[in-house]
Order: sequence, then C-alpha cells, then structure tokens
Amino acid sequence: ATIFVLNGPNLNMLGLREPHIYGADTLADIEQRVKAHGVGLGLAVDFRQSNHEGVLVDWVQEARDRARGIVINPAAYTHTSVALHDALKASDLPVIEVHLSNVHAREEFRHRSFVSPIARGIVIGFGAQGYELALDGISRMISPPSA
Ligand code: DQA
Repeated sequence: ATIFVLNGPNLNMLGLREPHIYGADTLADIEQRVKAHGVGLGLAVDFRQSNHEGVLVDWVQEARDRARGIVINPAAYTHTSVALHDALKASDLPVIEVHLSNVHAREEFRHRSFVSPIARGIVIGFGAQGYELALDGISRMISPPSA
C-alpha cells in the first residue's frame, strides 16, 4: 500500500530554520528515514513538500485514488486553511496530522488547527521521529494486527 506523506510551507528549510525548535535534521534526512521505516512496514511512502496551498490541495485530491492514507504536516496552513480541511475530509482516507514542535506550548495562533477535527490521529512534539510514529499508527489503521 502507498501512503502519501505531505509537507507544507517552509518545511523545505528544515535544518536551517530555527533548529532549536525544529531540530537539525533536513527534510531530506526525514524523507530517507520515513521511507526506510515504510519498507519495514510494507508501505511505499510518497513523500512531498510544497510552499503552495493549492498544490497541497491537488495532492490530497490525488491521494484519493493513489493512496491508502495521508500523513500530513500542513505547517502554517494548519492554522489557516479551510481549503485543506475540506480536501482532507473529502479524501475519505485516514489522515494523521504531524507537528515537529509542541504547537500547544507555543504562540496562541498555533493552538487552533483546521486539520485536527478531520484527523484520525495527531502526533505532536516528537520532532522528526513523529513521522515514523505516524506511519506506525496509520499502518495499523489500514491493516490492524489480527485479533
Ligand atoms: C509546524 C508547526 C506550525 O505552527 C508551523 O507553522 C510550522 C511547523 C511543526 O511541525 O511544528 O511550519 O507544523
């Protein structure tokens, strides 16, 4: 099965951008690790990043036919995007929201998420490892360990 792992604006700057908040790993480092982790779970990871809201909406629409689930760090669009909320809801796929930092320990404007109400699960504050935790979670959602 394929899982889309989508990343929003400024995440291409990871490693350079506020490393005390977001860590030293680059997005390429994270991509490599999450893809390797997927191999162990029998999941193909389609990993993408865009700074453009509409491109992210297009990818969520594409996921409907091409993926079994979506792991998404919508970055700043988390806090603003009704369009992403609507697209994720319409995808009919399990969605896991990921944030590297604990957004609830930060500025007030990061406390509201338009994505959380439609997410099946949320991984917040685990840094780069959060993507692997999200992949573990979505893997069990789409093929639960037999009872
Ligand atoms: C983020 C948190 C957002 O508030 C912020 O705009 C980001 C990154 C995170 O991963 O911690 O760009 O989604």
